[in-house]
Amino acid sequence: MSKTTASKRGTWVDDTLWDVMDGVASTAGALVKADHPWADAQLAQLYDAFSFDADVPFYLELAAQQGGRVLELACGSGRLTVPLANAGNSVVGIDVSPHMLALARAKLETHPSVTLIQSDMRAFNIGGPFDLAIIAVKSFAYLTETEDQLQALLCVKKHLRQGGVLAIDLLHAKPEWIGQSPGSMRDDLVQYSAAHGFTLSRVESVVSTDLSQQIRVIRSAYEAIDARGQLVAKRFVEWPYRWIHRFEAEHLLARAGFELQSVYGDYQCEPFTSESATMLMVARRR
Ligand SMILES: C[S@@+](CC[C@H](N)C(=O)[O-])C[C@H]1O[C@@H](n2cnc3c(N)ncnc32)[C@H](O)[C@@H]1O
Repeated sequence: MSKTTASKRGTWVDDTLWDVMDGVASTAGALVKADHPWADAQLAQLYDAFSFDADVPFYLELAAQQGGRVLELACGSGRLTVPLANAGNSVVGIDVSPHMLALARAKLETHPSVTLIQSDMRAFNIGGPFDLAIIAVKSFAYLTETEDQLQALLCVKKHLRQGGVLAIDLLHAKPEWIGQSPGSMRDDLVQYSAAHGFTLSRVESVVSTDLSQQIRVIRSAYEAIDARGQLVAKRFVEWPYRWIHRFEAEHLLARAGFELQSVYGDYQCEPFTSESATMLMVARRR
């Protein structure tokens, strides 16, 4: 497809994405297998087109309680950064992906109280102190080694004030999730995006599971289909994802100098139980 034709269809993607649309690999290729999948520009745009805001009130409330200096790790394309900033908080967002940050910058360019920094959450030094640090929607799972997890938590601790709070939203790895066999699939999300004028679908499947390492490789297939049924974009990505269990997380937090305050099972602060969809921990810097 020519870039001229592509640009007539919409403006939300850069030209390279249209090369993928026809099933022809662009420079990055349609199947992204990388240690760090977010290094892919097209994937960042597809991720950003999904909307999710169930956790926003929880973090807004926490920021209001703790003080307004917020550090958001793995802030991505600004899904949470934007409402936090709009609520009057002073937010520093860090993310390792230049593509996710570019999308966040486009939304926050003129916001006076936001700073976006490209950095790895395992090693950053950006001053502070902060009242609240956030690691949202399972982003911690991209750290696949205990040492990496610890380094990230130690870095967070260094940037928090005494008594400052870390909120970390972890996957609740239930036995049925862990037990899914390779090739098993589940429809994760199907969503119409009025802003883009197309329906987005993301289907996740299990590539492999290593119980000894607590690592699952997941393949996500992203598709965007317009009102005429035309495929607008398609992308596959595989990444390793490390789950951690409740008391492992508690030990990690303690090793990094945090005192656990609460373990919630959802964003309404219900207690964590066997059935909980998520494992949301709030810990205080000792
Ligand atoms: C699932 S997205 C979540 C983005 C955002 N927190 C949100 O709630 O929409 C995961 C993000 O983690 C970032 N990420 C993964 N590993 C990282 C690392 N080691 N350091 C910083 N960011 C990282 C990715 O670039 C990506 O933007």
